[in-house]
Amino acid sequence: MQKFDVVIIGAGAAGLMCAATAGYRGKSVAVLDMGKKAGRKILISGGGRSNFTNRVATAENYLCQNPHFVKSCLSRYSSNDFIELVERHGLSYHERLHGQLFCDNSAQDLVDILLTECDWAGVEIKLRNEVLSVAKNEQGYLVTTNQDEYLCQSLVVASGGLTMPKLGGSPLGYKIAEQFGLKVVPTTAALVPFTLHDHDKQRFDGLSGISIDCLVTSESGKQFRENILFTHRGLSGPAILQISSYWQAGQAVTINLLPECNLTEQLENWRKDSPKKSLKNCLTQLLPSRFIEILINDKALPDKPVNQLSHSEIKYIHDYLHNWTIKPNGTEGYRTAEVTLGGVDTDELSSKTFEAKKSAGLYFIGEVTDVTGWLGGYNFQYAWSCGVACGMAL
Ligand code: FDA
Repeated sequence: MQKFDVVIIGAGAAGLMCAATAGYRGKSVAVLDMGKKAGRKILISGGGRSNFTNRVATAENYLCQNPHFVKSCLSRYSSNDFIELVERHGLSYHERLHGQLFCDNSAQDLVDILLTECDWAGVEIKLRNEVLSVAKNEQGYLVTTNQDEYLCQSLVVASGGLTMPKLGGSPLGYKIAEQFGLKVVPTTAALVPFTLHDHDKQRFDGLSGISIDCLVTSESGKQFRENILFTHRGLSGPAILQISSYWQAGQAVTINLLPECNLTEQLENWRKDSPKKSLKNCLTQLLPSRFIEILINDKALPDKPVNQLSHSEIKYIHDYLHNWTIKPNGTEGYRTAEVTLGGVDTDELSSKTFEAKKSAGLYFIGEVTDVTGWLGGYNFQYAWSCGVACGMAL
């Protein structure tokens, strides 16, 4: 049996950050992970360049049953603090739309920084160690893996969510929470593409790869202005991934396909300037022609010259394209989702230390908790912030 002050389950973003922080505070720290490599999700994130933070991350960018929960850790370790850390290590990075920061070279650079920090802090990272069970006794927490047993005073569960089982997605953290009497908010896949009902799938089959700048609105009124992307199975793209976190089975999403224009005014202009032009040829100036052809062929839109459109038809076309409504069949699920919505109920945890209120010495950080960020580097920023907050308390 090996003894440490702190054992952390999960060598992901949150676990590594917490480990280095606790190690610098003089604690003996072991990080256990069942994978062959540390930081496996970091390595594939952002298309291999990792969108590792966002210039501005506030509580508004997160879903959590307690919307105030993340405020403390985000204010104590902000994106500026993480940027300062990576700059100290010489990481070259660039900024994309909406303040999203990516590595210039590869996400491996970021993992190397975290591993260097852990190394300097004296952290032991034990890979290929699958945690099988956790127990509490008079000496502390006993963690049994497929390799060994580990005894510690403080146990940090940073085992992530259910997404991408091949990269370590597992229910372990929720099971540990339940074992110690903590509530778990039901989980679902989030930041995930939608699948469509067969009828719509067949209709839009030929559009795979086409993207459109849209304003997408959920039934709860949440809106995102980004691209949508037609795929073989349904709809994806940043706007769809964002809205998927606010979508529930059976609900529709409304898509304004022309957020930049007032279609009624545009139709009136066409009726003046090119009255004999067909509606189809006019609309293909604004939207992909294959998409418009499908809507015309399906008779969702009339096939006639614009000067023959009645006022009620103009109103109908305006409403149709500004409020295109789609009812997804479902999502692609945990296999492709970026994150898991739900998780360990934050009411069970201290927002300052992430310690379980019902079990001293037991902590939950990262995706395993009921905190889900928007697309755009917010999930990693939460991992860094809660990792540091917890590490400071160990
Ligand atoms: P994480 O899942 O990273 O780590 C948990 C670790 O626990 C894993 O290494 C796993 O092996 C280990 N583990 C689980 N069960 C175990 C057991 N029984 N025994 C031992 N070890 C066990 N976010 C973002 O901000 N920007 C981005 O660009 C992206 N991009 C992105 C792309 C893709 C494809 C995905 C799937 C996800 C993203 N994300 C993202 C989300 C981001 O990856 C995610 O929020 C963080 O990795 C969560 O970090 P954690 O440390 O909490 O869990």
